[in-house]
Order: sequence, then structure tokens, then C-alpha cells
Amino acid sequence: MKYPVWMDVDTGTDDAVAILALHKLDCTEIIGISTVCGNSGLENSYRNTRSLNTVCRSSYPVYRGADKPLVREPFHALAVHGKNGLGDIIVPLPENETEYHEAAWEALYKAAREYKGKLKLIATGPLTNIAIAFTEYPDLKEYLDTILIMGGATREGNVTPCAEFNFYADPEAASIVLKSGVPIVLCPLDVTEKALLSPEDMEELRACGNDAGKFVFDILQKPWSFHKSIGNKGVQMHDSCPVLYLAYPEIFEGEEAGVVVETKSPLTRGKSVTDLYSDKQFEFKNALVVLDVDRKAFSEKLKELIKGI
Ligand code: BDR
Ligand code: CA
Repeated sequence: MKYPVWMDVDTGTDDAVAILALHKLDCTEIIGISTVCGNSGLENSYRNTRSLNTVCRSSYPVYRGADKPLVREPFHALAVHGKNGLGDIIVPLPENETEYHEAAWEALYKAAREYKGKLKLIATGPLTNIAIAFTEYPDLKEYLDTILIMGGATREGNVTPCAEFNFYADPEAASIVLKSGVPIVLCPLDVTEKALLSPEDMEELRACGNDAGKFVFDILQKPWSFHKSIGNKGVQMHDSCPVLYLAYPEIFEGEEAGVVVETKSPLTRGKSVTDLYSDKQFEFKNALVVLDVDRKAFSEKLKELIKGI
């Protein structure tokens, strides 16, 4: 049986690669994709995600979600992902596409009910849509099997010394989702910064002969120039971590922990505070925190999926 999966994204160059990988997994079926303001504005995130249906020759339903965080001003990452969020690459939308007008949180709730507690949710952007869904539909927690999240950092952050982008952009939403009571697999920077595609990997994809490989090469050139400029050895494929975890948990390592998100202090806004390294422990363990990955196995599996599209 295939796992029914819902994806919530702020596409985003690495979100795009993650969606392509999910599309190609044998063990999953994509039920719907919701989009949120994050790496760039909502309209880019919505359009970019729909354009992936062209790349995959698929027709996944794509929904519009929140155009700003719950209580904060929008915060973007254009320097990494380009002005349109997709490395400034523009792909045509599919011909004769169906547009879906339901709000992201309504569509997610409906799907969760329909799949009677079996739906797995992968979230790779700020958690605004999911927090709204839990607030509007408190019984949603009974209908989700697991939430796999790219977000947080148990040590230092990427956008501030303390915080990772998705949790920094909407800390209140991250806090609500982590307290939801649904089993959580959290992929913080600890693991996602190790999940690299090297320049050689990108070149291999460009040369592999399918459109998806060329597309991935093209959209990763903008983030690669950013990563290279700060001394990284490749492009960090943050958002593919929860996707690959679903299919290949054996290449990852993690630990159960208590995790909360800081919402009050300006200095530590969006920090994921865990009890992984402290004597004092929280009274709860609400997440499996993924901390490590076999880099080689990760990049090989990711390339294999993209090449197969
Ligand atoms: C996260 O922030 C975004 O820029 C990426 O798409 C990823 O979801 C990494 O901090
Ligand atoms: Ca993302």
C-alpha cells in the first residue's frame, strides 16, 4: 500500500527538488500540495509549485495558503532562491490545468478526514498553513498520521545565530504545530546542512538526458552561487530530507526529544529549544529529531529519483 502524503511548501528551489523526489517515490501517493509565503511571496510559491506539474507531467492539486505569517511581517530568502523563488527560472504552467480555489487549510483538513488518520504531512516551509489548520479544525490532530518537518536547528541557525529560516519566519506557527500532539519527525539544520548536492552531482543531473535533471541543474545555479560564496561544498537540499526519510529512514539517524519554539525574545526568535544535550529534560518527548544522514547514500538516492522522472 502507498502512503497518502500531503505536502506544504514555499517553493523554493530545494522545495522544488523535494517535490520532484516525492513524485518519483514508489511508496507514496501525493494527495495534494499547499503553498505558503516563505522563500518568496505566496504568488511565486503557488505558481512555482503548479509549474512542477509541467516538469513531472502530473496534475497534482495545488492550493493557495497564507500570504503572510500568523502575526509577523513576511520574511523571504530571495538571495538564496532568486527573485521568483525558483532560481529565476520560469517554467510554463501545464496546459488545461485545473485551478483549485479552496484554501490550503480547508483542503488539507478534508483530505486528512478522507484518509481517516493515514495521511502523512510533509512541511518544508514556514508552518503558517498547518497552524491555521489546527486552529480552525482542532480535531485535525486525530486525522494525521505523522508530520515530517524541515525546520529548526538544535545548535546554531542559518538566518540568525539562533534560528533556522522556516521557524524564524513564523515562530508562532512552528510553536503551535510542535504542540499539536501529532507524531513529529523533525529534520533540522543539523541533518539538512549535511544533505548536499555537489557541483559534480548537479552536472550529472544536467547531463542525464531528461528534462527534470536539466531543470534541477538550472534552478540550483542561483543557490549554488550563494552557497559557494559562503564556503559550502554544495547546495543544501534541506527539504528533500523529510521526503527521503519517509522512504529510506535507514540512511538517517535521530533521537526522541522534547522540542519547543521560542516566540518572545527578539534575540532568539524562532529558536528550536531541545532537551537533547541538557541534564534537565522536558516532561514530554514530542518529536523524533533527525540529526545525521549518510551523505553519499542521500545524494545517490536523490539523483536516482530525479533521473527517473
Ligand atoms: C529552509 O529555508 C528555506 O530557504 C528552504 O527552502 C528550507 O525549507 C532551510 O532553512
Ligand atoms: Ca522550503
